[in-house]
Amino acid sequence: MRKLETKTIVVASHNAGKIAEIADLIGPFGFSAKSAAELQFAEPEETGTTFEENAAIKAQASAQASGLPALSDDSGLVVDALDGNPGVYTANWAELEDGTRNFDMAMQKVETALAERGATQPQQRTARFVSVLCLAWPDGHTEFFRGEVEGTVVWPPRGKKGFGYDPVFQPQGYDTTFGEMSAEEKHGWKPGDPEALSHRARAFKLFVEHCLEA
Ligand code: IMP
Repeated sequence: MRKLETKTIVVASHNAGKIAEIADLIGPFGFSAKSAAELQFAEPEETGTTFEENAAIKAQASAQASGLPALSDDSGLVVDALDGNPGVYTANWAELEDGTRNFDMAMQKVETALAERGATQPQQRTARFVSVLCLAWPDGHTEFFRGEVEGTVVWPPRGKKGFGYDPVFQPQGYDTTFGEMSAEEKHGWKPGDPEALSHRARAFKLFVEHCLEA
């Protein structure tokens, strides 16, 4: 696996919530990281049907535009009773006609779909958050890191922290949702920790182990 030799990278994202979390995670490693949003790169269309394909589209677009290694995240909520939806379409479920996103509406859509299927008990509402990080170099080389966290979809939403679908996701073994956790609790990881909690922190830990550590 290729190591990252530079301390300057682009975070290939336009999503403020993700950018903040990646900045938290990468902070201790002393990187200078600008986001694709800050650099005013165009947001590429996510035409893939897998998290890996969409992560590669985003990372490769930023690596090409900047001439620097770029780290992207493609993520989503996979709900078992909804045949894996919204999955790679998690951001699309929040989209309004004017192109803006409304996550209260998106969480309600998930709840309505679960209710239509009679999924009222926690064991019928199992789900996982998935994050695939792609590190792309300007020469086209890519590496992928996948993190997942199991949990259940709760209703009503709880907590105002985090972003996206955090208020309806309760990770297994916890009685709080991601929306009720501080960023530190949600990541559940800092350099040297043997385990991480969130899907993104789990993927990030693999990135550190494979691309940063000697
Ligand atoms: P995409 O990866 O840009 O296609 O979007 C993934 C979508 O999944 C985001 O817009 C979020 O709504 C949702 N998502 C991904 N990770 C998280 C998370 O950690 N908490 C809450 N929602 C998330």
